[in-house]
Amino acid sequence: MSKFGAQSTTDDVLAEKDLTGRTVFITGGNSGLGLETGRAMSARGAHVILAGRDHGKLAEAMRIIRSDHSDGEVEKIICDLGSLKSVLNCGTEARNRFDKIDLLINNAGVMACPKSTTADGFETQFGTNHLGHFLLTKELMPLIEKGTAKRIVNLSSRGHHFAPVSLGDPNFETTSYDPWVAYGQSKTANILFTVGLEQRFSDKGIHAYAVHPGGIQTNLGRHMTEEQTAALISRVSASDPDFAWKTIPQGAATQCWAATDNQVEGTGGVYCEDCHVAEVDDNSAKGGVRSYAIDQDNANRLWAMSESLVGDRFTA
Ligand SMILES: NC(=O)c1ccc[n+]([C@@H]2O[C@H](COP(=O)([O-])OP(=O)(O)OC[C@H]3O[C@@H](n4cnc5c(N)ncnc54)[C@H](OP(=O)(O)O)[C@@H]3O)[C@@H](O)[C@H]2O)c1
Repeated sequence: MSKFGAQSTTDDVLAEKDLTGRTVFITGGNSGLGLETGRAMSARGAHVILAGRDHGKLAEAMRIIRSDHSDGEVEKIICDLGSLKSVLNCGTEARNRFDKIDLLINNAGVMACPKSTTADGFETQFGTNHLGHFLLTKELMPLIEKGTAKRIVNLSSRGHHFAPVSLGDPNFETTSYDPWVAYGQSKTANILFTVGLEQRFSDKGIHAYAVHPGGIQTNLGRHMTEEQTAALISRVSASDPDFAWKTIPQGAATQCWAATDNQVEGTGGVYCEDCHVAEVDDNSAKGGVRSYAIDQDNANRLWAMSESLVGDRFTA
């Protein structure tokens, strides 16, 4: 059992960690859980690379981290996950600028947006949350292979309970669009990608972890109206009477735990919540991972479809 839980913070789970010499690459590093992860890891000595789509927002995030911990090495890099071209440019730039990546935190995300597409025509949540990270991870794999810690953390969500991946129509070309089904699909894809990475790269000492951070008030709800937010809260409260919002440091704790804790060393391909590995559960609304999200066959089919959609392949 983990000694940490739902109330634990980033500083709690990293308290005994020395991350000096570790390079951490965080997508969505300018906001919410990504920014807090960068701050907490920088405070423990890590070299932090914040990836985002806006130089100004990234500069402000760097200022916040440095004001918390002035001697940390913090850098920024542009990566718009909604554009394959931007992801490829980021990969090239990262391989030119950095020697290695020890911890890749695929944290960026968009939730419940109106129907829209990425620059490449993918449904925005599937394209950004999954396909953008799929290609970025492929691009950064040579740097991860040179790292020491070699962990990849994929931010998923309990929202994966809303839907499996539609392998036949992931971009809602023939299916009517529902923003929560699209979010759920993308968050299931984050878990299946974790399973696929573990299968293909664990023999190289690279391990992958999917994480549900909890419910945290960040900028993630930007596409929701007040009414939609209220409806979501009452839906969550009805299914889980114990539901409580986490603070941002509590919310980012599970990704910091999955990235660094000895307990999960060498045992990736799992879904974590509240700083522990979750059980498979096909019924509970209060937690656990759905079996369709860790199914090896689903993972392989998503992997093949993702390679086809981004037009690129991992070399294992
Ligand atoms: N908060 C929660 O309750 C909760 C619950 C379950 C799971 N999660 C997951 O946790 C992760 C972090 O979310 P958060 O709560 O910290 O939300 P947040 O404050 O909105 O941060 C999301 C980050 O993703 C970035 N992003 C969005 N679209 C992008 C794109 N096309 N390219 C590059 N970056 C992009 C945002 O950049 P911009 O600032 O430029 O938009 C921002 O930095 C997400 O994957 C989310 O699904 C959160």
